[in-house]
Amino acid sequence: SNDELHARIRAAKATLGERVVVLGHFYQRDEVVQHADFLGDSFQLANAAQTVPDAETIVFCGVHFMAETADILAQEGQRVILPNLAAGCSMADMADIDSVTDAWEQLEAVYGTEPDADGRVPIIPVTYMNSSAALKGFCGDHGGIVCTSSNAATVLDWAFERGQRVLFFPDQHLGRNTAKAMGVPLERMPMWNPRKALGGNDEQGLLDAQVVLWHGFCSVHKRFTVAQIDQARAEFPGVRVIVHPECPMEVVDAADEAGSTDYIRKAVAAATEPTTFAIGTEINMVNRLAADFPQHTIFCLDPVVCPCSTMYRIHPGYLAWVLEELVEGRVVNRISVDAAVTAGAKVALERMLAALP
Ligand code: 13P
Ligand code: SF4
Repeated sequence: SNDELHARIRAAKATLGERVVVLGHFYQRDEVVQHADFLGDSFQLANAAQTVPDAETIVFCGVHFMAETADILAQEGQRVILPNLAAGCSMADMADIDSVTDAWEQLEAVYGTEPDADGRVPIIPVTYMNSSAALKGFCGDHGGIVCTSSNAATVLDWAFERGQRVLFFPDQHLGRNTAKAMGVPLERMPMWNPRKALGGNDEQGLLDAQVVLWHGFCSVHKRFTVAQIDQARAEFPGVRVIVHPECPMEVVDAADEAGSTDYIRKAVAAATEPTTFAIGTEINMVNRLAADFPQHTIFCLDPVVCPCSTMYRIHPGYLAWVLEELVEGRVVNRISVDAAVTAGAKVALERMLAALP
């Protein structure tokens, strides 16, 4: 039974003590979150992974790219475990290293490699945290940087100081929404389709580009629609609509605010008057907000429950299993990033951390 499972997890954690730390993403279900020592968005958890030097093992309740990032940032001798290796991310899978390398070569053939009069190189690669370690490594090795949804604008500023253009991957929506808010016109954001020559663009379109957007998306956030927002406004006059920037542009434009997981939590926490919130993000996160802030009325914009199916693959049964194996001295489901990739990826992640105010 579930009670038995939770008792087993607690017992294993008690035996392991400070040798293990459990990190949980906001999108994890409550049955998992109750066992997390740290709960956060992807940026906060990357920071947490850096600040747990006493733990020899980090058990990451999130998805594969987050566990990889933890391994890249972890101390010597620390190891990272992902309770279910099938917990990937469909968005991260939309950009693979071969397609990005191929795009980069085609773009270099159009742009050349010479800096302009201000010393800015023709193009800088920027990867969203939601990408494989190999892509973070690519960015580190090519003068680029990582961003998360909580710092994308700051990171794009960093990139525009050093480059005439940006290649942004994998999420077209985060790239478009962020660049648009910074004043980049839509016609200067061509999309790159990896299955077509020049990504499906003509050369002039690429020369005029300020941000070349990869064609990836999040299957959870792309479900939100303007019609849902219209309906929420009709039913609840005065409702405050906040959506994640992985949502399509029309949805972000129709919302009152857009922001990362952490932004949404802080916005709700800061509301002093009882408020009705319609939130466009993952359902476990929205339900937890509703439970944590009962003074407000909080609901998910999508009436059909929309969990992230891969986040959901971290079942408490897997958590019990990896912890009990550790008690027995066995390490299962370790995520270990190749040393050659780690070096470049660390550079790209550290550029992000250094660019933040
Ligand atoms: P954040 O944790 O950066 O808000 O990312 C949202 C997300 O989609 C995580 O997979
Ligand atoms: Fe990937 Fe979207 Fe799930 Fe985040 S919510 S892990 S971006 S599929």
